[in-house]
Amino acid sequence: MCGIAGYVGPKNAVDVVFDQLKRLEYRGYDSAGIAYLDGGSIQVTKKAGKLSELGKVLHDSPKHAELAIAHSRWATHGGPTDENAHPHYDRFERIAIIHNGIIENYLELKQDLVAHSHKFSSQTDTEVAAHVIGREYTDGVPLEEAVRKAVKKLRGAYALVVMSLSEPGKIVCVRNSSPLVLGIGIGENMLASDIPALLPYTREVVIMEENQIAILTKERIRLIDGDGKELAIEPTHIDWDIDAAERGGYEHFMRKEIHEQPQVMRQVTTGRIDEKGKIRLEGIFGDHVWNEIDRVNIIACGTAYHAGLMGKHLFESALRLPTDVYFSSEFRYGDPVLSPKSLAIFVSQSGETLDSLAALRLCKQRRIRTLGIVNVVGSAISRECDRTIFTQAGPEISVASTKAYTAQVMVFALLALYIAQVQEVPGVRIDEWISEIGRMDELMAECLKLEPQIEKLAEEYKDMPLCFFLGRGADAFVAMEGALKLKEIAYIPTQEYPAGEMKHGPLALVTENVVSIFGATDPNIRDKVVSNIKEVQARGGRIIAITTSEDELMDQVAEHVIKIPKTKFEFLNALLAIIPLQLFAYHVAKLNGCDIDQPRNLAKSVTVE
Ligand code: AGP
Repeated sequence: MCGIAGYVGPKNAVDVVFDQLKRLEYRGYDSAGIAYLDGGSIQVTKKAGKLSELGKVLHDSPKHAELAIAHSRWATHGGPTDENAHPHYDRFERIAIIHNGIIENYLELKQDLVAHSHKFSSQTDTEVAAHVIGREYTDGVPLEEAVRKAVKKLRGAYALVVMSLSEPGKIVCVRNSSPLVLGIGIGENMLASDIPALLPYTREVVIMEENQIAILTKERIRLIDGDGKELAIEPTHIDWDIDAAERGGYEHFMRKEIHEQPQVMRQVTTGRIDEKGKIRLEGIFGDHVWNEIDRVNIIACGTAYHAGLMGKHLFESALRLPTDVYFSSEFRYGDPVLSPKSLAIFVSQSGETLDSLAALRLCKQRRIRTLGIVNVVGSAISRECDRTIFTQAGPEISVASTKAYTAQVMVFALLALYIAQVQEVPGVRIDEWISEIGRMDELMAECLKLEPQIEKLAEEYKDMPLCFFLGRGADAFVAMEGALKLKEIAYIPTQEYPAGEMKHGPLALVTENVVSIFGATDPNIRDKVVSNIKEVQARGGRIIAITTSEDELMDQVAEHVIKIPKTKFEFLNALLAIIPLQLFAYHVAKLNGCDIDQPRNLAKSVTVE
């Protein structure tokens, strides 16, 4: 989810691309850089840290470069350092490239290049891609041809932008899964990873499609496909206001991030399931460790804690691996009993939550192995854990966590399958899991189509005094996350329980205007949930039931039924149910005029105890 910018034309290209990066700041980044032609060489200036750090060192940029490319990095391979920042040169510094995405086979490519005496100055997959392109860029070969041939050797998701010393008025870019948009000007042309960076200069935009290659000069833009065939240019006029554009046209970052979840499902698994159907978790502990671990302790806060509960459910149901889940804030003061052979897993979107960081440090004092499941690369928790699996969800701006949660749960699924693979756990149908995980993007997209139905429910219940979130098994854990969403952005009191618990006290709170949302996605225990629904109905409570598309009974039971697609695994069914719950919280909050992206009293990263 890096920021990408490029410009060729009569303006000062360095000023333009720096301004474009500033308009992409909301995408999050930890370093930034610019490449431009300066006399007889490609000048690359790049700095770790905020864009302002780059600005400080750019002061002596040329008065008038006509072409420049720029990049703000959201680290995936290699920490946020000056060396790892983009742009990167090829072997002979004849080209410079910037990149958004993940090159899955970069290690194999790097080994081959090193064997041919290539030297590298960074840990990034991007620098490897630069050398691969450079190797194709021989005398007389146009830059676009070198790029076209080189990308056939790359596997993964990428948006690549390339400039060259020997073709000074040309930028070439290629899109494969990571977004790239082109801006058509008069006597100038430009590109970016997102529309906001273009709007101050042009509203005529071309959204690049998969495997397309664009060639930009100040006079024109050409588009070719992977075989070099010329394609028609079909610009779209963008009439968004610039502020809305930063949210991709959505009114709030939260809704944008809810809708990004199908893409995030692809990002989480990128590079982690190989062509032989094996789970690959880079840099994780050795097999001997996974065969020794006798217990897992998951430690987290808030939404991350709820993801941890899903991890517990899966580790115990599929692997029979005893697992405890702790609130970070309680863990340290509870003098926890920790087995020397246990593994402590720290789940954190920001990787900076002080409660979790303090708990991590306690585990390290006790010499317990630590594993992070973190979104922000370079964050404290990711640095201090022995190993870290990054969720690769991209920057999550809205305080209410949505895509990070589903990404965390999917990492737990991948980790459980990895352990099953190492320990050869009988009964875990890894191939079937991988096949269903591979469908999660389209299944989530199906769930997002429920939004109009959810919006109507929000209109009907936006003034409810209390909302119960109930379920059994994994549905109970998803219910807790759904409750937190409604609580934190719509400020509506919620109660979340395993459905069977209602009759042991909470039922006393049910009156005719109290709403109860039941997760009933597991067919094996659905009938028990139906009994709980009837207990609430008998006290006049309003019922919303979330079940799967194959459930024919629920329509006769519940007042409102939300049907999500069915998968082979109840764990994945339960996870899909969070989509309507996220949407419900969003629309209730919106109808009630709440400040959705920055709810009162809350912060995106809680760095205090
Ligand atoms: C969830 O919507 C909240 N933003 C909050 O509960 C959050 O999950 C919690 O503070 C943990 O943050 P972390 O994942 O960055 O550690």
